[in-house]
Amino acid sequence: MDKAIGVFDSGIGGLSILNSLVEKLPYENFIYLSDNKNCPYGNKSQEQIINFSLKNSKKLIELNCKMIIVACNTATTNSIDLLREKIDIPIIGIEPGIRPAILNTKSKNIGVLATEKTLESKLFNSTSKNNLTDDITIHEQIGYGLVNEIEKGVTGNILIEKYLKKYVTPMIEKNIDYLVLGCTHYNFLEEKLNKLFSKNVKIVDTISPVTNHVIKTLENLKIKNNSISKNSVNIYYNGNKILSEFTSNNYEISYLDF
Ligand code: DGL
Repeated sequence: MDKAIGVFDSGIGGLSILNSLVEKLPYENFIYLSDNKNCPYGNKSQEQIINFSLKNSKKLIELNCKMIIVACNTATTNSIDLLREKIDIPIIGIEPGIRPAILNTKSKNIGVLATEKTLESKLFNSTSKNNLTDDITIHEQIGYGLVNEIEKGVTGNILIEKYLKKYVTPMIEKNIDYLVLGCTHYNFLEEKLNKLFSKNVKIVDTISPVTNHVIKTLENLKIKNNSISKNSVNIYYNGNKILSEFTSNNYEISYLDF
């Protein structure tokens, strides 16, 4: 079998990226690691996050992957430099889409919803600072409790709605016109968020930019699969079983100790 593209996250968040990659790259094989026994990453120390990222990357190499997508903002912002130093295959990470929001805001107020460790990270802060102009204000909010709740299922989860209302109401009062989702888990909340906002607030996720970046990188490095047999998608979790609401029927899902 052709080598696979490896993807990892602390849980189901990165499946939002995987679903898009599978659709756009029908002839690539994918292996996804959900490190959900260590979920959430967002309130752990940077050292712990680095160790989780290294462990996941080494497992993906062992499983014969040709490239790694860090489908997690927290792992990217806290460990990508070190991963690139230690791991020998191409690595693509995910940073909050702060730049497009800064370039397009009219109200000059932008909201960012992310985990504690992403908002604290050097990478996030330098990206924001480098793109920011004096007239724009960024309103940051940690999504306390959200990742744990999302892992339990989004459909009908009243607590998620309660948290979201609490987190975005102050941003609406500050007249934001862009909300940047800085955690891949939150991609599954777009529908709920849209209900809380008027049409004037746009939600920025990073699903399309990351998908396009992966496609370009495969082409540039000439490591695209040559075969035209339909892709295989294997998902492994090391904690609780992954809920079917986040996955497609064509995925093989199994437990793996990693
Ligand atoms: N999907 C991860 C992210 O993008 C979740 C973080 C967590 O596990 O707290 O940041």
